[in-house]
Amino acid sequence: MKPQVQPNKIVVLSGSGVSAESGLPTFRDAKGLWNSYSWQELASPEGWHRHPEAVLAFYNERRQKAWQAQPNAAHLAIASLESAYEVVIVTQNVDALHERAGSRNVVHLHGQLAYARGTSEPEPKRYRVDGDPIAMGQLCEDGTQLRPDIVWFGEAVQHFDEAEEHVATAARVLVVGTSLTVYPAASLVQYADRTAQKVLVALDMEEVPRGFTFLQGKAAEIVPALAAKWLSEVRVAE
Ligand code: OAD
Repeated sequence: MKPQVQPNKIVVLSGSGVSAESGLPTFRDAKGLWNSYSWQELASPEGWHRHPEAVLAFYNERRQKAWQAQPNAAHLAIASLESAYEVVIVTQNVDALHERAGSRNVVHLHGQLAYARGTSEPEPKRYRVDGDPIAMGQLCEDGTQLRPDIVWFGEAVQHFDEAEEHVATAARVLVVGTSLTVYPAASLVQYADRTAQKVLVALDMEEVPRGFTFLQGKAAEIVPALAAKWLSEVRVAE
């Protein structure tokens, strides 16, 4: 059965561009991480097996920078929508800036820097590390080396079914700061209802998905205006 759209529900699909103005790099823009670093070496199970110390160092630096960064106007505006809407954020980001801006319902598809996990399968134990580094020799209680709780290329994304259902039941869908090039996360836009209001915010976009209105520019400038508009629409409807 087709899930029912909930008129008061907003789903935000976010990517690294929403944190760009907090000083965190994106992945594929000119100064993006994957233009300076090799994802094959640093974000894959094979890279981890070849040189775990390099992988830990890379993510330790990411974790420290994300911990020091502050939420920007876009994160705060998204959090403000909760005063009038049911809001679910489905993010590809591994930072915690949405939560730190006050958002209460954040689904992380690609894991979180603030956690480490053991390397046993299938259900390794997770530990909260916040901004602290993970060292070689630091072990899970099952005796395996700790690694970042990040989804690497070739690994299964987390919470996908839950995310799909949220998108399908939203009356408004905001896609912000993602190039929509990494699957399956990018495929979530296809689950948005035909009747949903659909907006995409980014600096550049090669292809805007069908049904989406493209607002080109910085998230910290565009999202606050959009959130103010959506909040005013609730008040008019009341
Ligand atoms: P990308 O680097 O692929 O895309 C960033 C998007 O953000 C682009 O569309 C930019 O135009 C936009 N952007 C940049 N600065 C912006 C700003 N100030 N305001 C608004 N938009 C801005 O990053 P993602 O789509 O997030 O996965 O990348 C997806 C995944 O690829 C990541 O989660 C990561 C990476 O490999 C893993 O590490 C598993």
